[in-house]
Amino acid sequence: MRSTIMRDRDFSDPGLKRAPSEVRQYWRDAFRAVRSETERRASLLSPEDQVVQSMPDASPTKWHRAHVTWFFETFLLVPHLPGYAIYDERFPFLFNSYYVSAGPRYARPQRGLITRPNAEDVTAYRAHVDRAVAQLIETADDAQSAEIFNILEIGLHHEQQHQELLLTDILHAFAQNPTFPQYDPAWSMPPSVQDDSYVAIPQGIHQIGHDGETFHFDNERPQHRVLTQQVRIGRALITNGQWQDFIADGGYTTPTLWLSDGWAKCEAEGWQAPGYWHDVDGAWHVMTLGGSRPVDPHAPVMHISYYEADAFARWAGKHLPTEMEWEVAARHNLIDDAFGIVWQWTRSAYLAYPGYRAPDGAIGEYNGKFMINQMVLRGSSLATPDGHARLTYRNFFQPPARWQFTGLRLAEYP
Ligand SMILES: [Fe+2]
Repeated sequence: MRSTIMRDRDFSDPGLKRAPSEVRQYWRDAFRAVRSETERRASLLSPEDQVVQSMPDASPTKWHRAHVTWFFETFLLVPHLPGYAIYDERFPFLFNSYYVSAGPRYARPQRGLITRPNAEDVTAYRAHVDRAVAQLIETADDAQSAEIFNILEIGLHHEQQHQELLLTDILHAFAQNPTFPQYDPAWSMPPSVQDDSYVAIPQGIHQIGHDGETFHFDNERPQHRVLTQQVRIGRALITNGQWQDFIADGGYTTPTLWLSDGWAKCEAEGWQAPGYWHDVDGAWHVMTLGGSRPVDPHAPVMHISYYEADAFARWAGKHLPTEMEWEVAARHNLIDDAFGIVWQWTRSAYLAYPGYRAPDGAIGEYNGKFMINQMVLRGSSLATPDGHARLTYRNFFQPPARWQFTGLRLAEYP
């Protein structure tokens, strides 16, 4: 599956030439599909599962379900649906995440303390907002509909981001449980290509970034020219077997392989292997969405921090690709498993593209204010919902983060 960008469903192109009734139908269907996918993911969890917050960076399932609902209520319904009344005046404080311009909010590390509203109350909140959004889609006048559907579309992509977090966060919670609960007993690792070869990326000037024609986040713009040097990129993702070689060769006990910050973190945390790896009778196992499973040496490694990816690259005598190298390689269809298994760390800092400006208003807080102290990841993961991935998508996390489905591929210079 070389560089397959979109899987199944892609609602990023409503088709401006369609009749207004068809456009409304399109958004009605898209809204229903995304909202029900969130509920499908949550349906495998009990109300108790939905409350837990296992660390400050992770949020409870119930909070995710309510927060994405608050997003539609705050940014779509309140400004655009005449007569809409906020479902519960206490909810904006509880379920605003980081939007300073949308008002005060509860402290993120304490989201697990919100036992009320309970999961059932959140279901009712979701149903209320679903009905109001359906009404807005039906009644939006033509003059306003472009803006309304634009916000609706951002809200859907936002909810899809939280669908992925819902899984990564519950996996972290379940990994703290010594009985290793199964989120989904039928879960299996997606198939992947094994290939040790490297392929040359065309040298010279290339365009990267989104052309603006279909949906994209603001951080993918403007499209701009970049210069690639002579470089080769690994066709395949790095596997657990290769990672075990790194461990056996003292990867976690050799400070010269590590960045200073990375080594400090490795020592402080006592890292000896990727996140969720644990010893069972002398063999490595890993906590997955299907519970604890033996580490498969042929599968791509996941749950590694940027620091570990960087140390591995140094050990291998290679580098992590830059995000522009990754995008050029993917555009030329040179790499396998770019999407759908693990996000791939790049050695690019998460910074604004030349000429980037954050949008006005609260939506401007979506991406721009996080452009500091984080590294870019490219591709998508096994937890990314269908239709959410893009060639130009820029995910970003802080270098120590390990609870996402994060892996790597390497690059080499002559
Ligand atoms: Fe959010």
